[in-house]
Amino acid sequence: MHFSRSLFFMAMGASMVLARLHGHERRHAHVQHRNAAQLIEERGVGDPVTATIDGKVVTWLDNYSGGSPTKPADYQPPSATTTSNSLPASTSPISSASNGTYSTGFGGRTASTGTGINKKGNCGEPYGSNIILIDNDVADKYDYVIQIVGCPSTKHTVGFWNKIGRDGNLDGWYGDATLNFVVNPGETKTVAVDEDTQGAFGITTGNSLPRDQHGGYDCTWGEFDFCNSDNHNWSGFDVSVIQAQAAGRTPEDLEMCDPAAGVCSCVKQGGSYVSNAYTQSQANQGGIGGNLPAGKVKLVATLCP
Ligand SMILES: *[C@@H]1O[C@H](CO)[C@@H](O)[C@H](O)[C@H]1NC(C)=O
Ligand SMILES: *[C@@H]1O[C@H](CO)[C@@H](O)[C@H](O)[C@H]1NC(C)=O
Ligand SMILES: *[C@@H]1O[C@H](CO)[C@@H](O)[C@H](O)[C@H]1NC(C)=O
Repeated sequence: MHFSRSLFFMAMGASMVLARLHGHERRHAHVQHRNAAQLIEERGVGDPVTATIDGKVVTWLDNYSGGSPTKPADYQPPSATTTSNSLPASTSPISSASNGTYSTGFGGRTASTGTGINKKGNCGEPYGSNIILIDNDVADKYDYVIQIVGCPSTKHTVGFWNKIGRDGNLDGWYGDATLNFVVNPGETKTVAVDEDTQGAFGITTGNSLPRDQHGGYDCTWGEFDFCNSDNHNWSGFDVSVIQAQAAGRTPEDLEMCDPAAGVCSCVKQGGSYVSNAYTQSQANQGGIGGNLPAGKVKLVATLCP
């Protein structure tokens, strides 16, 4: 499989990129799903890739040779599709020093490189330390948080990953969820995300996120982009069932909202109800989801909307 390193965000078995820009704010590029064999025939490394971005056709060179069709080259799949019910007694990395300062619990930041569709933001140093589980009651101390509201009666497993994989390519969704946890019925959990992070989370009622034949997560995704340094620190989010539908799976129900902005993105009833969210048939559209000007963002993700 060949795909450009500039592929963004969205799931792909084998795909072509469409960037999403909404007004001047750029959040994601977006993929158009295509048949893998067709893609391999049509494109190779060094080939120009053409996408329509905000109505304009843009071309760049495809630099990424994916290697095997099952996983990107040089990619070390993590052992971690495992999840655990047992969390440390205190999951809060926030700690107050005697001088009144706080440690956020994030690791270091990786420098942002590239612009626009080629943007690679903060992936944390060590990798994944930019997306952490925190205690619910310290959520307000963080600038970018996602609260996951559990279902009344169904346990869910949630896994978060960076858009950009450890190898620097757009393959974080190939099984590299670095933060995995269970949300029991009635439970709420809070995830803090460091600035300039682009990533997503997947949800499942199983014990680990389902994956397609290429190794990519093919459950329902909640996508996020916080404080994008290439986009004047704007943030954005959406629910996407593109990958689930491309794999022929019934998507899991999910709603993501920014209550402060009054914007939601939702898929439920197994995909028959879709509001401001990405489905396979809308994969080419732009502007779906929430686009938020610079500043703190607190998203609420409801697992049984
Ligand atoms: C991408 O490919 C072009 C053309 O082959 C080359 O000039 C450029 O240096 C490559 N960029 C990267 C990041 O590999
Ligand atoms: C406050 O204390 C912490 C932990 O002892 C230390 O790492 C930090 O540098 C201190 N900050 C200031 C502003 O003194
Ligand atoms: C974006 O956020 C960073 C980090 O918070 C800040 O240093 C920078 O000035 C901000 N840039 C803009 C354009 O607001």
